[in-house]
Amino acid sequence: MIEEKIIPIHFAPLQGFTDAPYRNAHAQVFGGVESYYTPFVRIEKGDFRSRERRDVEMKNNTVPHLVPQLIATTADEMRKVLGLFQQEGHREADLNMGCPFPMLARRHKGSGILPYPEEVESLLRCMGEFPDISFSLKMRLGWEDSTECLALLPLLNSYPLRQIALHARVGKQQYKGEVDWDAFEAFSKGCKHPLVYNGDITSLEDIIEVRNRFPDLSGIMIGRGLLANPALAWEYQQGATLSDAELLSKLKTFHTLLFEHYEARLQGDAQLLTKLKTLWEYLLPDMDRKIKKKIHKCTKIEIYRGLVAEALRG
Ligand SMILES: Cc1cc2nc3c(=O)[nH]c(=O)nc-3n(C[C@H](O)[C@H](O)[C@H](O)COP(=O)(O)O)c2cc1C
Repeated sequence: MIEEKIIPIHFAPLQGFTDAPYRNAHAQVFGGVESYYTPFVRIEKGDFRSRERRDVEMKNNTVPHLVPQLIATTADEMRKVLGLFQQEGHREADLNMGCPFPMLARRHKGSGILPYPEEVESLLRCMGEFPDISFSLKMRLGWEDSTECLALLPLLNSYPLRQIALHARVGKQQYKGEVDWDAFEAFSKGCKHPLVYNGDITSLEDIIEVRNRFPDLSGIMIGRGLLANPALAWEYQQGATLSDAELLSKLKTFHTLLFEHYEARLQGDAQLLTKLKTLWEYLLPDMDRKIKKKIHKCTKIEIYRGLVAEALRG
């Protein structure tokens, strides 16, 4: 292990998981995160989805540093979403050029835009119309192959960006297969913007390994690793690991905050259970598998409560 400077950890956006209540509760109970990214906001049939609008409203967000994210193919779509961000008083925005969902990629959204430099440029040019907003990019190595990000480098370098977070996969891989550190390195050598690494970081050892390989990184973005161990960023910042009992105790507080929040807002137990069960998809991957399975299968809120108490018993 090499002694190192602590760098910022960013919480990656995860549609369906890191909504405002999750982010707020995470910052309150665990922290250690420099900035929280919202899942992407987009224009669909000419308008916003109300859930996505609510998610970026300032009144619903209490984290110290929030970066709203958008996904778009055209400058026109981008302008509409940026109008909403401005209206809400945001001074930063992140542009998603990483989403791999075929339905969106086919329409040149997310990583589907990466093979089309002219379309990328029209979005970058649109940023100039919003001088009060500081822009970052979240992207992949390419849609089909990792030479696509290299081809975009001169263009990306010629626009003012606060940072680029690069997920070291191509879109076609979705979330599977190996991350490509060599391709990340090739991009990092030519990139003039502050660069953030993203992809498959799940432990303190992973953070240190990626830091050793890329000492000039300006940050690390973590998604599923933080869903699995919400204390990971704090542990890295503090240089200390929580004991099992401490982690479980914090998870209890975290779970209670989310339970109470959703209980007050969702209609009926079925909706509440569906929402709460998403927490357990990635959380504590090493926990008793039988309990996890029962949580996923249970249909009664009282049974769910009992199972959670069992799972989080110190
Ligand atoms: C369920 C799910 C939802 C995601 N939603 C978004 C999103 O809204 N915006 C985005 O830029 N990336 C999204 N991502 C990608 C993550 O932000 C991240 O780049 C990816 O999971 C790799 O990082 P990780 O290995 O640390 O999780 C999503 C990933 C998953 C698995």
